Amino acid sequence: MPNPLISSAAGPLKGTCAVPGDKSISHRALMLGALAVGETRVSGLLEGEDVAATAAALRALGATIERDDDGTWRVHGVGVGGLAEPDGVLDLGNSGTAVRLLAGICASHGFTTLMTGDASLRGRPMGRIIEPLERMGARFEARSGGRLPFALIGADQPLPIEYRLPVPSAQVKSAVLLAGLNAPGETRVIEPAPSRDHSERMLRRFGAEVGVEAHADGGSVIAVTGYPELQSCVLTVPGDPSAAAFPMAAALIVPGSDIVIRQVGVNPGRVGLIETLREMDARIEMGPRRELGGEPLADIAVRAGPLRAVEVPAARAPSMIDEYPILSVIAACAEGTTRLNGLAELRVKESDRLGATAAGLRAAGVTVTERDDGLDIEGCGGPPPGGGLVATHLDHRIAMAFLILGMASGKPMTVDDGSMIGTSYPGFVADMNRLGASIAAE
Ligand code: S3P
Repeated sequence: MPNPLISSAAGPLKGTCAVPGDKSISHRALMLGALAVGETRVSGLLEGEDVAATAAALRALGATIERDDDGTWRVHGVGVGGLAEPDGVLDLGNSGTAVRLLAGICASHGFTTLMTGDASLRGRPMGRIIEPLERMGARFEARSGGRLPFALIGADQPLPIEYRLPVPSAQVKSAVLLAGLNAPGETRVIEPAPSRDHSERMLRRFGAEVGVEAHADGGSVIAVTGYPELQSCVLTVPGDPSAAAFPMAAALIVPGSDIVIRQVGVNPGRVGLIETLREMDARIEMGPRRELGGEPLADIAVRAGPLRAVEVPAARAPSMIDEYPILSVIAACAEGTTRLNGLAELRVKESDRLGATAAGLRAAGVTVTERDDGLDIEGCGGPPPGGGLVATHLDHRIAMAFLILGMASGKPMTVDDGSMIGTSYPGFVADMNRLGASIAAE
């Protein structure tokens, strides 16, 4: 059932908030916990539908995963290579990370796994993981164009490979590295440009041997040594910078706002948005950094103020790949034309995010030019007109981005369906309303 939401002009946002646990890290915590020996305890896990899909799949593969009343998750792992054939179809819902990383894990287990997802996930390209995982000895029977649903026949005797990533994708990198855990020798991924390194950090945390070296042709080589004995551990998941981007944006564009977002992950592979916003003159201050479970985190203070347009280089895309819809909303309120470059990958996210963002901006009365791999957004130098209806195409980040725009625009913004917000930020509406937003069912 679609759940339309309407967002009207907000008063200044004040106070502090904490965003849910990082989605990427939450998936990986459950997956590596399931492959470790003993009980892994995870606090701060994102309790959204995407991570729930990973938990359900891992249970179907033989791991035990439970939640205590205090919110701690306990994962009883089966050891590397110890998963068992699921007796049904694994439905990964809306989650690209879940399906791609789990396919990596299952590719080096000698059994058959059937995987599917919702209409958005069934439209997304899986050839990018099928190709390297077949080189390692797995076989796939996928729908045309390498789409879900597929059957994955895992390799009995997986081969380690050296694989050069054709797209800068942490999901593809992680799929290959996770498959390499149950293969002999060293599995190597050549990454021409850096992408988020949560898998590498967490593999080390669980005791795997992961080497990172510079590659002769530029970029780096990440190598994982097969058959490690992964040790269970105690983990705390930092706040998700991709979720924090929404209150951050709201505080920047609603005049008079002044907020602090607590304990946000600031992994260098995830802070491209903050770098860009600072170039736009945003008033963002980061508190002292600390390390938690191998990941850096910090409080982030944000105050409203005038913003100016910038050109965002293509090379920055991997460090802010999920933040372009919300950056576009911020750019709509800035002075001047913002150019976003090198974004062909956005066309194959939960929706075609370039198309959905451009359409949403137009619905709000903002002038935008859509290129094959980018957007040019003419900022209004203040509140955009607003007043439109936005098609979200099963995409949580499109829904959240345009609800934030409604907080700062002349007329309210309506999104056709807010239900997908539950995949990554279940408390979004309540958190924003507590800070001063006015978001309600339509
Ligand atoms: C993710 C990597 C990114 C990102 C996604 C989560 C991950 O995808 O868009 O939301 O957890 O590894 P790609 O690696 O395909 O760019």
